[in-house]
Amino acid sequence: MVGPSDDQVLADLLDRIDSTYFRPHPMTPDEAHRIATRDGRDLYLLGYADEEAVAYGMLRGWDEGYPTPSLGVAVRTDRTRLGYGRAMMLALHAAARSNGSDRVRLRVNPANVAALSLYRSLGYRPAAFERGELVMYFDL
Ligand SMILES: CC(C)(COP(=O)(O)OP(=O)(O)OC[C@H]1O[C@@H](n2cnc3c(N)ncnc32)[C@H](O)[C@@H]1OP(=O)(O)O)[C@@H](O)C(=O)NCCC(=O)NCCS
Repeated sequence: MVGPSDDQVLADLLDRIDSTYFRPHPMTPDEAHRIATRDGRDLYLLGYADEEAVAYGMLRGWDEGYPTPSLGVAVRTDRTRLGYGRAMMLALHAAARSNGSDRVRLRVNPANVAALSLYRSLGYRPAAFERGELVMYFDL
């Protein structure tokens, strides 16, 4: 879980993520600081490999009162296709379950082939189109 001491690690990771289709929040050091020092139920996770932060995961919406959190996932550009995205998804599912949710949702740009393949392979089902993006759900 991202905490106050992860400020710099998160800032470095955000800088190394392909944000073509991943802009859940500003990808800046200021935003990394805000996330690392925040309070609340929403969850931000870091995934490590060989002591390096390689994956980023989010479950947001609980703070706003939604029962179903919105999931976000990203892997460092130079560490993709190594299974870290899938591993982060499984960690996020476990975290959502242990926080009392029975499903998660996400939005994905239909042109984001990597993400769409990952979600489909896990069993996510499309539900709607929202602002040009596909809304998908997964029952935990
Ligand atoms: C989407 C993303 C998180 C996938 O992470 P990853 O670590 O590369 O994924 P994994 O190695 O765990 O791959 C899991 C599966 O996803 C699919 N996948 C991943 N990258 C893919 C690609 N470039 N093309 C097609 N399928 C892909 C495959 O089904 C893959 O399984 P396989 O390797 O057994 O074939 C990563 O590409 C990323 O960070 N993209 C930028 C941020 C982003 O767009 N996030 C999602 C916003 S909705």
